[in-house]
Order: sequence, then C-alpha cells, then structure tokens
Amino acid sequence: MSDQVAPAPPDVPDHEIIILPAAGHRNHQPLLDQCLGVRVEVFVHEQGFSLDEEFDKHDPTATHFLLRLLPSKLAIGTIRGTKMVDSNGDAYYKLSRLAVLKPYRRYRFGRDLVLALHGWVKEDAKCSSNVNLVKVVAHSQIPVRSFYSKYGYLQEGDEFDEDGAPHQKMVTYLSLERN
Ligand SMILES: CC(C)(COP(=O)(O)OP(=O)(O)OC[C@H]1O[C@@H](n2cnc3c(N)ncnc32)[C@H](O)[C@@H]1OP(=O)(O)O)[C@@H](O)C(=O)NCCC(=O)NCCS
Repeated sequence: MSDQVAPAPPDVPDHEIIILPAAGHRNHQPLLDQCLGVRVEVFVHEQGFSLDEEFDKHDPTATHFLLRLLPSKLAIGTIRGTKMVDSNGDAYYKLSRLAVLKPYRRYRFGRDLVLALHGWVKEDAKCSSNVNLVKVVAHSQIPVRSFYSKYGYLQEGDEFDEDGAPHQKMVTYLSLERN
C-alpha cells in the first residue's frame, strides 16, 4: 500500500458572492466599480489587454457578479452574464469577464462564480421563456479551455481573434427543472 497522501485542499477563505442590483439602484455603481477594479487588475495589468476594450457596450445592461472576502469585503473575483439574441431570433446567455485576482486562484472561486452565473441564468430563463434547455456561450482564452470544460462547455468552431488574443467559442446547455 502506498504511503503517499493526496495534498489537502487549501482552506477556503470566507467569502460572499453578490449579484449586482440593476443600473439605477443606489448600490449598483459602487459594486460595479469593484467588479471593474478586479477586471482591470487581471485583464489590463496582468494580461495586457487594452483599457479601452475592457469596458464594452454590454456593461451597462449585463448582470454582474462580485466575489468578496469576508469580513474584509475585499473584492477578488467577478463574472458577467448577458442575455443575447442570435441571428435566428433565439435567446441565449453569454458568460464573460470571468476573473479572480492572482493571489486568490485555485480556491475554487472561479468555479463558484461560474455556478452562481448558471444559477442566475436558469432562474432568468425560467421566468422569461418556456424552453427546457438554455444555451450559455463563453469565448474562452485558449489556456483556460479546460477550466470551462469542467462545467459542461464544449468547443464549437475554430479559434478566432478577440481583442488581440486567440479565443475559442465554448457552449453549454443548462437544463431547467420546472415544477
Ligand atoms: C480562470 C480563472 C478564473 C480560474 O479561477 P480559479 O479560482 O483559480 O479556479 P478554481 O479554483 O475555481 O478552479 C476550478 C477547477 O478548474 C481548474 N483550473 C483552474 N484554473 C485553470 C486553468 N487556468 N486552466 C485549466 N483548469 C483550471 C482547477 O484545477 C479546478 O479543477 P478541479 O475542480 O478539478 O480541482 C483564473 O485563473 C483567472 O482569473 N485567470 C485570469 C483571467 C482569465 O483568464 N479569465 C478567463 C477569461 S476567458
């Protein structure tokens, strides 16, 4: 029998995930600023994307998620969900701007943000349509394709350039359980 023991998972710091209230609510902008702060740190300072491209036309209408440590309320992660309509007029959701600050990676915060977004997608889709499956699309940077695969995303089509970096379209379908 081997005496090797699997490494224990890191102790996960206490945290909260907030779904931002809609634009116009008094808490929206301060919380959005915290999401944008994480995105600038990760996508602009760490990965070198341009600040101009970081904020796009979807930000004002998207649903933003903010992950903060407790009790400090330090913002360390974010993700964004946007309801879209394809060229056939069919609705789908887009997952984008997933980021966790570098010192806080591998605590499963990325997973928690994706699962929180999936929960929101399901609730939103149940309220606004009568379909049983809802499509979610992510444009994955190439090195993190296998991260998205863990949550049911499959590659669709060829790699393409987005904001100056190669990306891969990844798609999953979430099942809506209706009572
Ligand atoms: C991608 C990112 C959000 C992952 O966040 P994280 O909190 O470190 O990931 P988690 O700890 O939740 O990892 C969940 C699972 O994915 C795996 N994983 C984490 N990072 C990964 C990566 N870069 N590539 C492949 N798998 C990865 C983990 O091993 C874990 O697997 P397990 O559950 O089987 O043990 C984070 O690395 C990040 O912010 N990267 C920079 C920004 C970025 O590239 N965003 C994606 C834009 S498309």
